[in-house]
This record gives sequence, C-alpha cells and structure tokens, in this order.
Amino acid sequence: MAQGNSSWSPDEIDRDKPNAARVYDYYLGGAHNFAADRAMAEQAIADWPELPALMRANRAFLRRAVRFMVRCGVQQFLDLGAGLPTAGSVPETAPSSRVVCVDIDPVAVAHGRALLADNPLVTVLQGDLRDPAAVLAASGLDLSAPVGVLLVAVLHFVDDAADPAGIVAAYRDGLASGSMFAVTHATADAQPERAATHRQLYRRTALPMTMRTRAEVTSLFAGLELLPPGVVDMTHWQPDPDTDQSMRLAGYAAVGLKR
Ligand SMILES: C[S@@+](CC[C@H](N)C(=O)[O-])C[C@H]1O[C@@H](n2cnc3c(N)ncnc32)[C@H](O)[C@@H]1O
Repeated sequence: MAQGNSSWSPDEIDRDKPNAARVYDYYLGGAHNFAADRAMAEQAIADWPELPALMRANRAFLRRAVRFMVRCGVQQFLDLGAGLPTAGSVPETAPSSRVVCVDIDPVAVAHGRALLADNPLVTVLQGDLRDPAAVLAASGLDLSAPVGVLLVAVLHFVDDAADPAGIVAAYRDGLASGSMFAVTHATADAQPERAATHRQLYRRTALPMTMRTRAEVTSLFAGLELLPPGVVDMTHWQPDPDTDQSMRLAGYAAVGLKR
C-alpha cells in the first residue's frame, strides 16, 4: 500500500477535509487526526463539552463488551462501523482473535489498512452494514463458529426506512448459536436539547443521526437473549471498578446472545 508522509495515512487521503473517523479519534485522545479534524472537533466540543467523555465512555464499553465475549469463548469478531482502529480498538482488546473491521467510509478503511497492515489476524473491509448478506460473505469468518458482532455507535446512522431491527436479525440468522451482539446507541431520552444540536451538526455530514428511545433500542434485540444488565446507560453496563458512572445518560448499551 502507498504510504503518505506518516505511515498510517496513505497518499490519496485529503488531510485538509475533516473526516468523522479522525474527528472521533481526536475525541478519544488519539494521535490519528489532522488540523482540519481538530478544528471541527473543537467546534462540536464548544457546543457540547462532554462529547469527548461520552466518546471515551462508548469506547470503554466496547472494550468491556469485547473482553466479556472473549471470556465467553468468542474468538472472532465482526466490527461493523469500526471507524479508526485506534485508541482501545477491537484488535487491541482481543489481540489473539480474528477481527474483521467493516466501514462504509473509504478514508477510515484506508487508514485502518495502513494501521493494521502488519497484523495477519485483522482484515479491514469497505462495506455497508445495511447489506448483511454481502458483509457476511466478504468477511471470510468461520460462520459455523460463534462471532462477536460489534454495532457500536453506528446503528443511529441507520434510519428507520433501512429497518435496523431487520438488519440485526439478518446477521443473527446468518451466524452460529453462541454469537453475541454488542450495541451502543445515541438517545435523546435524557438530554433532548443537546441531542437536537448534535443531530443538527451531523445533518451537515453524509451521516444523519436517528436517536432512539430505550424501547426502540430494546426492539433491535428481538430474537436475541438480552444479557444482564439489559439495555442500560453505557457506563452502567458491567462497569469496571474505575468506570465513571456519574455521567448523565448519553447513550444506551446492551449485549445480546444468539441461543
Ligand atoms: C461514531 S463511529 C464508531 C466507531 C466505533 N464503532 C466505536 O464505537 O468506537 C461510526 C462509524 O460507522 C461508520 N458507518 C456509518 N454507517 C455505516 C454503514 N452503513 N456501514 C458501515 N459503516 C458505517 C462510519 O463511517 C463511522 O466510521
């Protein structure tokens, strides 16, 4: 792969145009972002100062969910809407597992491939999670063994017309029993005004957001067994001793099991 003037950023990447995945990396305190990304992030943080803490809480849930799945015996992961695989990503959290990262954004995919080029256990695919049959076929995963599916901070980019519950069901039906699904999802349940501002910001991007209520997020798990503690504020899902649970609800999290 062609390398840019840093090893993780291929030549074809436009560094002057903010990219959502790199903006997110900045929120996480990562080193994989450029000036244009930082400027956009700072604008969003000025509107909503807790954003970096929320994004970190989301990534922290992802790590707890992946560690939980590994403890349950899951050895392969499908990370749908993976973003940049930095700052506590799935390959970092489950280093001896097979991981397939899928993202619709060619910029995130190009960075991901450059970042993970040396890791033979990881594949980075450009794909649309709304097409489960194509994603599963391209994944190369062993579909006869359990898969840990990560749908973390991505289903709010799938609008009702695309039938997010139907999409989750299609992955569920295509995977072996013992497979697990981890979801985080933005909601306006606790802070409706903040959520409206944030939604407005994303309306300017290619990825408009659909906030969902607790009941709507719960309905995404139809046909799966919701594991304890169910659909909760993401900082309340199986917290570590050092998990800060004081934050006001920013998003729901849950893990479901295919029996
Ligand atoms: C907020 S980031 C979440 C990154 C990571 N999952 C995490 O939680 O740390 C959302 C990612 O989902 C990707 N995405 C949005 N819609 C998608 C789709 N239909 N198929 C695949 N990826 C998608 C975006 O490009 C972006 O990289």
